[in-house]
Amino acid sequence: MALSLSSFINPIAALLLFILHVNAATVTYDFDIGWVYANPDGMANRPVIGINGKWPIPIIAADIGDRIIVNAKNSLGNESTSLHFHGLYQNGTNHMDGPVGVTQCGIAPGSSFTYNFTIDQPGTYWYHSHSRGQYPDGLRGAVIIHDPDSPLKNMYDEEIIVTFSDWYHDLMNGLLEGFIKYSNPTGAEPVPKSALVNETQNLTISMEPGKTYLFRMINVGAFAAQYVWFEGHTMQIVEVDGIYTEPEDADMIYITAAQRYAVLITAKNETDTNYAFMGSMDEDLFDTVPATLNPNVTGWLVYDDKKDLPAAAPIDSFDPFDDFALIPQDKEKLFDKVDYSFTLDLKMDNLGDGANYAFFNDITYVSPKVPTLYSVLTTGDNATNPLVYGDHTNSFVLGHNQVVEIVLNNNDPGKHPFHLHGHAFQVVVRSDDEAGNYDPTAPPDMPKTPMRRDTILVRPDGHIVLRFRADNPGVWLFHCHIEWHVSSGLIATMVEAPLILQDTLTLPADHLAACKAADMPTAGNAAGNTINVLDLKGQPLPPPRLPSGFTARGIVALVFSVIAAFLGLATISWYGAAPLSKEEEAKLKRDIQAGEPQ
Ligand code: C2O
Repeated sequence: MALSLSSFINPIAALLLFILHVNAATVTYDFDIGWVYANPDGMANRPVIGINGKWPIPIIAADIGDRIIVNAKNSLGNESTSLHFHGLYQNGTNHMDGPVGVTQCGIAPGSSFTYNFTIDQPGTYWYHSHSRGQYPDGLRGAVIIHDPDSPLKNMYDEEIIVTFSDWYHDLMNGLLEGFIKYSNPTGAEPVPKSALVNETQNLTISMEPGKTYLFRMINVGAFAAQYVWFEGHTMQIVEVDGIYTEPEDADMIYITAAQRYAVLITAKNETDTNYAFMGSMDEDLFDTVPATLNPNVTGWLVYDDKKDLPAAAPIDSFDPFDDFALIPQDKEKLFDKVDYSFTLDLKMDNLGDGANYAFFNDITYVSPKVPTLYSVLTTGDNATNPLVYGDHTNSFVLGHNQVVEIVLNNNDPGKHPFHLHGHAFQVVVRSDDEAGNYDPTAPPDMPKTPMRRDTILVRPDGHIVLRFRADNPGVWLFHCHIEWHVSSGLIATMVEAPLILQDTLTLPADHLAACKAADMPTAGNAAGNTINVLDLKGQPLPPPRLPSGFTARGIVALVFSVIAAFLGLATISWYGAAPLSKEEEAKLKRDIQAGEPQ
């Protein structure tokens, strides 16, 4: 923008740019990250991760063009941490993006780390820990970037930030241990205990007649998408994931984990009734729904605080707005010439430890020894060779400014919200449930001005096709934003313009110190080899594959017959598995021992 304006040599524009520039502020947050206790659903007082002794944690707010500095001190004592600013492009500051093992090492207990970046995108975002499985313990909050020139600025009087989420009573570490385990061979995700709105329940929001409000809604949950509706009020969608849209009316929206919607809601003129609004967790995601679970969280739009808060009316069915129909306000055209297309086939399967893992193209993500960005910076010309980043990171090297297409085939009966760091992508195809794999030889009609966002739902056994321009040199994860699936490996790595990164990025001392404190190498390939970067010996590996011919059920039967023998139990029944014959059992044991890493 700045370049094209100045090329017109328009003195007014130049002056405006100058004013904008001198107005840019630095917004500094000092965050001491530590454990506190909280009981947001009234059912369990539990440790949560707070900031400066408080939970919920602060909202980060800034204006477009500002610099944000977050001085993060890890006072957790027992866990390392990191912060990711979800949806911010971090163009030029890839090392501030936050995922551990990708753009930094974890911040060790007792250490500090500074995130320092400027923002040139308005809208509704959030920040969260990007250290294994951690954010659902509470380290998650809103990031709001205001825009003095917002096309919405004359359309509302006040803004209201509303987060939705699922909530667990146990700590993530313990839940993860039980989730990725032989005793959970189907990979059933822990079911939340309740739903929250603004990290509480029964939230009241006061409404003044005649005013219009911009509701910025964020799903900061670990797992469950939520249906959201306001009784008696229509939402007008004006922004999704930081992208302004042509206004669209909706009675109900569906917000997956990590998605955001900004909607306008106009207050009624009468104040004689208060109205419920609802977040309702999508129970399709849960393998079993406990009878005691209340999937809903209720809040109220309050016109008169002396009047009742009426219970929400039951509804017959969920019929949310289809976000695929949205049109970005800037009308960015479909990228119709693709330079680089690749396919990710998603599946869930068991490995030789009997536990259930998530795979793209038969590879489950395993964090490399050296954060991938650090490999980029220390492997010279070899940085354009995906081999350098290891066999278990699903790394794809993208050329600068290429139009990249990701085809994702969901060979799983679950719904998955996919997120790409560093970009908002065009969603050019999204199939219905059960549509099977994408057929590139018979592409459907694509929208001329496709919806853009940074997190998109792929439907059960369906597919999506995403396109974006690789105009942001950096290492950017592409992953399912269900935190269980991040932990079980549903991650790919985009290594975008690595040679440009080598020319433009310098790591601050505290970033290198974080690795030192964690005893992690900062140079070389995924195995930490600095001499021969194509030799991956010593790279972190997943458990070995199941020997061919053995089903998950078989291995579970084996594990349990071993346990049963150990415990002296006579019979065992588990998922209807037939006990293995002596020969089968012996063969499986041999195969597992010989088990080749995948
Ligand atoms: Cu909300 Cu990998 O991010």
